[in-house]
Amino acid sequence: MLGANLPDWTRVDFAGRVIAWQRQHGRHHLPWQKTRNPYWIWLSEIMLQQTQVAAVIPYFERFVARFPTVRDLADAPEDDVLALWSGLGYYARARNLHRAARQIRDQYQGKFPRDAQAIGALPGIGRSTAGAVAVFAYGARMPILDGNVKRVLTRFFGVEGFPGNREIEARLWAGAESLLPGKHIERYTQGLMDLGATLCKRGKALCDICPLAEDCFARRMERVADLPTPGPKKRRPEKFTVMLVVRRHDEVWLEKRPANGIWGGLWGFPEIQNIENAGHEIRRCLGHRAKVDKVLAPLRHGFTHFELHITPVLASIPGRGARKQPLSGFWVPVVEALSGAIPAPVRTLLLALS
Ligand code: ADE
Repeated sequence: MLGANLPDWTRVDFAGRVIAWQRQHGRHHLPWQKTRNPYWIWLSEIMLQQTQVAAVIPYFERFVARFPTVRDLADAPEDDVLALWSGLGYYARARNLHRAARQIRDQYQGKFPRDAQAIGALPGIGRSTAGAVAVFAYGARMPILDGNVKRVLTRFFGVEGFPGNREIEARLWAGAESLLPGKHIERYTQGLMDLGATLCKRGKALCDICPLAEDCFARRMERVADLPTPGPKKRRPEKFTVMLVVRRHDEVWLEKRPANGIWGGLWGFPEIQNIENAGHEIRRCLGHRAKVDKVLAPLRHGFTHFELHITPVLASIPGRGARKQPLSGFWVPVVEALSGAIPAPVRTLLLALS
């Protein structure tokens, strides 16, 4: 930190430099930059949480083509929304988006709210996302403070301490607010995001071409690698599961997962803990005796809070099996399952079958 006091957030024309840099070097052709439609901007900001621009673009385009208005989204079944989100991860984002669309339809006559407080009260919208939507859709003079911006500010102003800590975060919000320019708020906000994503990167900051380098605390003190201060180290626990991949000709057995918990509301294979019980469990879930064909090598899937090891067990049911469908799941052709609301490892396994 600069001395014992708060950093002087106004000692250089921070915003002016960010704006000038964005004009020349920032990103200008992202699909959500072509519009002031608050629904599209909101959708893009939700998709961009924890996800890189390149991964988001095709999802964004498919989503707005299928649900062009907030009403179209609100009226859609949750399964269709999750199917379009399939592979993007963090599915709570999609469920909240859908809930928020329904609130907008029912409480705001389908018109996206204008007021930042009302925006921030919608499910899944935190302070930074509310700020970004208000800036890009309405030109409101509001700060943002996502992970990228925290990195830029902590480095430039030498703010020590884990930014996830409430007190540090409050200081960063106050700083972010004090930096806001009187004009060009959209370009400034986009510039901060672009700087954080393309120059002031976590691993290898490109200080040589940064417009802020000359006055950057971290750069001058050779502390770029130390800031932002990392949080307390938590080991990601490992979890283990067995997925029962049961086939009947060109179909597989899928079950809808409970609304809460990982992959809430998505379709997946039945899961068990103990591989020895596979045959018995298949009979219980499907009401059918099955032949266990083989056990595949485990797959790994990383979540924010844990690492999941998945052992797939392939089994098959000969013949059509005339039994009535039990309620917990259904048979679906593999090709159809691939266009459904399925998590990434389920997609990987289905692709291996098809
Ligand atoms: N990350 C979050 N919001 C973004 C935006 N509007 N453009 C680019 N990257 C972003």
